[in-house]
Amino acid sequence: MTTDARIPAQPMDPEQALRVLETYRGADVPWREGRAFGYVFDARHAALEAAKRAYVAFLSENGLDPTSFPSLLRLENEVVRMCANHVHGDERVVGNFTTGGTESILLAMKAARDWARAKRPEITRPEILAPITAHAAFHKAAAYLGLGIRTFAVDPLTCRADVTAARAALSDQTIALVGSAPSYAYGVVDPIPELAALAAERGLWMHVDACMGGVLLPFLEKLGEAVPPFDFRVPGVWSLSMDLHKYGFCPKGASVVLHRDKGLRKYQIYACSEWAGYTIVNATVQSTKSGGPLAAAWTTLQTIGEEGYLALARDMREATRRFAAGIADIPGLRILAQPDMTLLAFTSDDFHVFHLPDLMKRRGWYVQPTLGTGPLREHVHLSVTSANVPHVDAFLADLRAAADEARRLPRDETAKEVGTMAAQIDPSTLDDETFGQLLAFAGMQGAGVPEATAGINQILQELPAPLRKAILIHFLNDLFV
Ligand SMILES: Cc1ncc(COP(=O)(O)O)c(C=O)c1O
Repeated sequence: MTTDARIPAQPMDPEQALRVLETYRGADVPWREGRAFGYVFDARHAALEAAKRAYVAFLSENGLDPTSFPSLLRLENEVVRMCANHVHGDERVVGNFTTGGTESILLAMKAARDWARAKRPEITRPEILAPITAHAAFHKAAAYLGLGIRTFAVDPLTCRADVTAARAALSDQTIALVGSAPSYAYGVVDPIPELAALAAERGLWMHVDACMGGVLLPFLEKLGEAVPPFDFRVPGVWSLSMDLHKYGFCPKGASVVLHRDKGLRKYQIYACSEWAGYTIVNATVQSTKSGGPLAAAWTTLQTIGEEGYLALARDMREATRRFAAGIADIPGLRILAQPDMTLLAFTSDDFHVFHLPDLMKRRGWYVQPTLGTGPLREHVHLSVTSANVPHVDAFLADLRAAADEARRLPRDETAKEVGTMAAQIDPSTLDDETFGQLLAFAGMQGAGVPEATAGINQILQELPAPLRKAILIHFLNDLFV
């Protein structure tokens, strides 16, 4: 049990330690078999062996101080230039390598905040303005950075940001406007030129979140797909986040944040001259940081190469079309938006869609349940990667069977009743006892990793946002020791 774990008095045999690690993986999502539609972006590419070796080779090099490790400075500059050129940045575009999309977004929003402090001093309660489909990382950035955040609607048919709603939601405190390319939830690209024009008109920082699409969309464009404009070719785009550990297929801990020029990037950088130790000047959140992810990202980009990425892009896009058509053909299921890339959302009007992840799990698949927010429907999400490509037919057959099974399940009103009852709970007073009762109503035995999630998700779906949040925090607080 984790609570009994101690550093062993006698060292464990290294081979034994590795064997034990292997056994720990037993209940993980089945990504190695190509049966998971999230979390792991698996290219099934021979190049990844070299990337793993590069990761280990640079594991101990420290990115804390780029002047002490010129190797890492060179690698970072080369990775950033490859990314900047890929999204059509000119020679003035600069950026940094970060640990992931969240960090890239956090840094872009820190830059926006500090830019506004310098250039818009009349703004005293700065706010981010983002479509309701923008990633949670913007809300997290707002929470961490002491910013406000307002959301605006998306078009109900296309699920793209509604520019008229954005205009209506602007306030005299808005400092930054956000668009996604594409949004995680619906896989569609927002109207970036219109949003950027609005930002320019109002003197706002414009950030494009291309964490999902930054690598893949330009390759799809090269393949002749109609990719909506989203990158530095669009006037008014000031910064852009693009993840390498998603559709760049680099090992995790790899993303890039780019700025139109150095004059903007300087607001991202943090320096401290108020302490007694070594000089601190950091472009990113971490100080000490392993060179492993950076070396692995450089190696992946080099060794997959444009030729490899184009082949991957073609296969994944083609598979996504087949997944979308196949899902739309299953009685009771419907796709929520026609995807611009390789992300899919679908729901059901016949039965509770949250049964599907459990029923698919029993058939050996991982698909992601997604709670509805405001007017947006609860749904199931698929991020299609290369490893899923050979499994389209098998997946669709199992999904059809799972949907048949879900349709025959008796209608259960417990979630609605519990939701109505629980809505009375004051989130700030949520205690272990109430939490335990909620889990019991959801058919769950105590805390821990749940076997089935339909019950708890149906209840969460019914709850007001503040209580949902309190329950999620309680859950995670119990999960970790
Ligand atoms: C559009 C978008 N932005 C940001 C993120 C956050 O990225 P990360 O999980 O690497 O922090 C994600 C993650 O899925 C995403 O899809």
